[in-house]
Amino acid sequence: MNATSPLHVIIMAAGKGTRMKSRRPKVLHPLAGKALLRHVLDTMQGLGAGAEATLVITGHEAGEVEAAVGPDARCVRQSPQLGTGHAVQQAVPHLPDDGVTLILNGDVPLTRLETAQALIQACAGQHLALLTISLDDATGYGRIVRDALGGIRAIVEHKDATPEQRHIREVYTGMMAAPTAWLKQAVMALGNDNAQGEFYLTDIVATAVAQGVAVRSAHPAEAVEVLGVNSPLQLAELERLFQRQQALALMEAGVRLADPARIDVRGTLSCGQDVSIDIGCVFEGRVVLGDNVRIDAHCVLADCEIASGTHVSAFCHIDGARVGADALIGPYARLRPGADLAADVRVGNFVEIKNSRLARGAKANHLAYLGDATVGERVNFGAGSITANYDGVNKHPTVIEDDVLVGSNCVLIAPVRLGAGATIGGGSIISKDAPPGQLSIARTRQVSLSHWHRPVKKPKTDAAG
Ligand code: UD1
Ligand code: CA
Repeated sequence: MNATSPLHVIIMAAGKGTRMKSRRPKVLHPLAGKALLRHVLDTMQGLGAGAEATLVITGHEAGEVEAAVGPDARCVRQSPQLGTGHAVQQAVPHLPDDGVTLILNGDVPLTRLETAQALIQACAGQHLALLTISLDDATGYGRIVRDALGGIRAIVEHKDATPEQRHIREVYTGMMAAPTAWLKQAVMALGNDNAQGEFYLTDIVATAVAQGVAVRSAHPAEAVEVLGVNSPLQLAELERLFQRQQALALMEAGVRLADPARIDVRGTLSCGQDVSIDIGCVFEGRVVLGDNVRIDAHCVLADCEIASGTHVSAFCHIDGARVGADALIGPYARLRPGADLAADVRVGNFVEIKNSRLARGAKANHLAYLGDATVGERVNFGAGSITANYDGVNKHPTVIEDDVLVGSNCVLIAPVRLGAGATIGGGSIISKDAPPGQLSIARTRQVSLSHWHRPVKKPKTDAAG
């Protein structure tokens, strides 16, 4: 390809995906947190064809699929769905007569950009190029039929193949590249006289041979690149293969994973040096871990940044938060969006923090809730204490200045301010600002009753005697 030979891309995504047994269109099922079709769109954006020259064939649940495509491609509807050849026929009116057209499947998510480029190169603007691979078990795939000299003669669909042809291990992966003008006339001439009564795109190979158009093949670097998703099992298997690739890349970069088979990255995970991650952790969205960060088992981290030297103990859920250096988080801590924790902070078990800033050295070690709070340096927020930040309609702020000590089981009714160095007696319900440096207590004074007696059990009366 060169600048004078434009590229068009067709992504077929109209099929029903019957075997998924789902109401959701197959191409919108997520792999590593991202729709199958989105993987294809994102990777192939690297080809530089542009949104105008990228056509997605939609059909089953077209509206939903089109919404997911958004502005990244043009969508062309196919209704009813009469086969892959019929799908490409729908694109024909939208294709000019120049350049090369690349055809992809929306349910094959892990094809590498380099593989698509190799296929386009094999087409060289004039040949029909097929992406093929040899499989140990070729069941279900279209077989590549070659002549004695190795030239490709046809693709025969599994259901139409003779017993001898079914022994062929080389299969068509569903990806091809062809000169656009030639492709247009070839697909418009397709018939549907076959086992499934469908218009097979693959029949254009025989057309090319008959018309003297050379048929070339290119091959993916790895089989995983051409694996499609037809069932929940295949989706799960592909997920594991993809996660393994990501785990290997992380370890290559020096990250120490307790077990590369027990990590899930559904987005991007960037790690500094000497990061270690125990089993069962899930990373979603964009997660950044600094040097020497340690994540213990079974944590879920989404869209967060954890600075160097911080230790996240087991079973934490961190979403939309920032944690400074050398902090200790968890076990069993929950940091929600807007939690912004400075260095040396400690957050212990069953502590929930939402939209709150904790300054250096602040601690909330047990069973607490901080919402819409600003917490100063070295504050110690006692076990069982909470900010009552919501009055049923509005959220209100709580300000806790430096060196405040909040005892256990306090309720801070926002809006409220605790002055620097204030101490709040345990069990207090604080509804007014607490002055700095003083002890504030808001609970019933303790009384002791000297003449009080514990009730005693009455002796049993024997009914018979
Ligand atoms: C197709 C190929 C087969 C190849 C296999 C690779 C044909 C006739 N056969 O078979 O040679 O080995 O892929 O996976 O092409 N689609 C539409 N409209 C339709 C039918 C399908 O858009 O009317 C889309 C599907 O959504 C899917 C893709 O085309 O993304 C492939 O369709 P599918 O039915 O899965 O084809 P296979 O039978 O697997
Ligand atoms: Ca398929």
